[in-house]
Amino acid sequence: MERLCASADVPEGEVRQVDLGDGRVLAVYRVEGEVYATDDLCSHGDASLADGEIKDGKIVCPYHMGSFCIRTGEPTGAPCSIPIRTYRLVERDGEIMLVA
Ligand code: FES
Repeated sequence: MERLCASADVPEGEVRQVDLGDGRVLAVYRVEGEVYATDDLCSHGDASLADGEIKDGKIVCPYHMGSFCIRTGEPTGAPCSIPIRTYRLVERDGEIMLVA
């Protein structure tokens, strides 16, 4: 498992960008107490989803206001039509970790 960030770095209802330094850049979210991660890059254009807003379990892209389900990565609002990857996380002892 790989450490992403501290639990305190991702407060309820917020999203943070985490650069793993190996080409992968994730967006890490907290929704109703649970942590989730997706690719940070929107599948519609060159936007960081970590700059977007969480609404009803979805991340709304800051560029064209398309959206994705945070849990599944499925597109939920136009113009987004290509799913984004999701990642499995565990939260333990105040740390958020990526399950390899
Ligand atoms: Fe994200 Fe267009 S770049 S909706």
